[in-house]
Amino acid sequence: MTSPTSDRASTVLLVGASRGLGEAMAGEFLKKGWNVVGTVRGSTRTKLHDLAAESGGRVEIEHLDITEPDQITALRQRRSGQSFDMLFVNAGTANQNQGETIAETSTDEFVRVMLTNALGVMRTVEGLQDLVRPDGIIGVMSSGQGSIGNNTNGGHEVYRGSKAALNQYMRSYAARHADGQRAMVLMAPGWVRTELGGPKAPLAIEESVPHVVDVLVAQQGRPGLQYLDRNGTTVPW
Ligand SMILES: NC(=O)c1ccc[n+]([C@@H]2O[C@H](COP(=O)([O-])OP(=O)(O)OC[C@H]3O[C@@H](n4cnc5c(N)ncnc54)[C@H](OP(=O)(O)O)[C@@H]3O)[C@@H](O)[C@H]2O)c1
Repeated sequence: MTSPTSDRASTVLLVGASRGLGEAMAGEFLKKGWNVVGTVRGSTRTKLHDLAAESGGRVEIEHLDITEPDQITALRQRRSGQSFDMLFVNAGTANQNQGETIAETSTDEFVRVMLTNALGVMRTVEGLQDLVRPDGIIGVMSSGQGSIGNNTNGGHEVYRGSKAALNQYMRSYAARHADGQRAMVLMAPGWVRTELGGPKAPLAIEESVPHVVDVLVAQQGRPGLQYLDRNGTTVPW
């Protein structure tokens, strides 16, 4: 796909693309003709490196731990002058014992999950937003579990709270940028078999990710924030 404003290929800055949904999204963007700058943590070889090796130079790899503000600043500086069509922050985590209630969770585990899924994601959005075209797209990976309205069964309490917090922070971010032209998306990909989703999830990666990417790309030119699932349906807040 070419950029709406030129003949050059569109490019996504995809944060958290080493494996799972993020790595599959990188592959899906490639199929659509986009170029990808994908981030990994650390220095070990990942699935994204394999994809990059086969991409003919269309996948570049960057390094970012979203819980390290200095790394966000450094990435922004390294990429300064580049204009991305989309920033998508996929990086996220879950608490080790998903069955524990909020009060049973250790303070360290609560802080780790909230720091990654809420504060780290928002610092990344705020820190990298200037790299996105004024009419581009800023998306983050939320979850259906971030919906307060749909929470009738409980469970996964720490994780749910972290994604609900992320949704709330994106609402505030969107309110502060209400005059802007960018589309903003909180994405709920469905329950998918990844390391985080676990083996009991009903969806394979290939049953979710192509739809997720279709829905994201379709938001171009639609300013404002939406909370969407992989079918493009609005999720109740
Ligand atoms: N799978 C599901 O059913 C499901 C459902 C709803 C939402 N989600 C969300 O989708 C996103 C991806 O999940 P997944 O299922 O693909 O999980 P996953 O296989 O565990 O992958 C998580 C990804 O996030 C990265 N990451 C974690 N902490 C990070 C940090 N501090 N800085 C940078 N990157 C970090 C990981 O990098 P490393 O390889 O370096 O650890 C990895 O690339 C998450 O936000 C998750 O909450 C998943």
